[in-house]
Amino acid sequence: MLLIDFILGFACIVVFGLLMITVANLFTGVPSVPTPHRLVREMITMLDLKGNETVFDLGAGDGRFLTAVKKRYPKVTAVGCEIVPTLWFWGFLRAKVLRIPIELKLQSAFTMDIRNADRVFLYLFPNIMEKLGAKFDRELRPGTMVVCLTFPFPNRMPVETKIVKGRFGPTKVFVYRW
Ligand SMILES: C[S@@+](CC[C@H](N)C(=O)[O-])C[C@H]1O[C@@H](n2cnc3c(N)ncnc32)[C@H](O)[C@@H]1O
Repeated sequence: MLLIDFILGFACIVVFGLLMITVANLFTGVPSVPTPHRLVREMITMLDLKGNETVFDLGAGDGRFLTAVKKRYPKVTAVGCEIVPTLWFWGFLRAKVLRIPIELKLQSAFTMDIRNADRVFLYLFPNIMEKLGAKFDRELRPGTMVVCLTFPFPNRMPVETKIVKGRFGPTKVFVYRW
């Protein structure tokens, strides 16, 4: 009886978590599709890190990008935000269990203070790229590197475009110098 209660309780938590993610995705218009781990490694290489920079992931999901950066470059400051509470909690818990010190905030990308960023990684959706670009214009230091997976900024020329093998086939990576 106790085991059934436990299974049912666990199933309820999982269903509630997934439901919350789905509803939140409808509101933000950005699906919660994580970057495959293989591609995370490739994206980190593209950031061209020396090892002491401040790296942001806006819309960090389960924080996998930031934890991977921090694992490879322990002296980097890894900061991110996620707007969906269940995803944020999972990412927060994951980083704590793995003992990887990242700063993952339950916050919107639009209210994050990004003025000290050296590198920004984005895997978002076309509907918010233009508005985010305006925030970058106001806040990023000139020359800050921004790497976008799949979805570019509509009114900005990347300094480099690369084709990589994404989750759903070949996809593009856009590198900007702000
Ligand atoms: C495609 S996923 C990418 C997750 C992670 N960056 C990765 O590469 O694995 C985009 C994430 O951004 C989050 N998101 C969407 N709009 C957001 C916003 N305005 N502020 C913060 N996070 C947002 C979504 O909830 C989702 O988890």
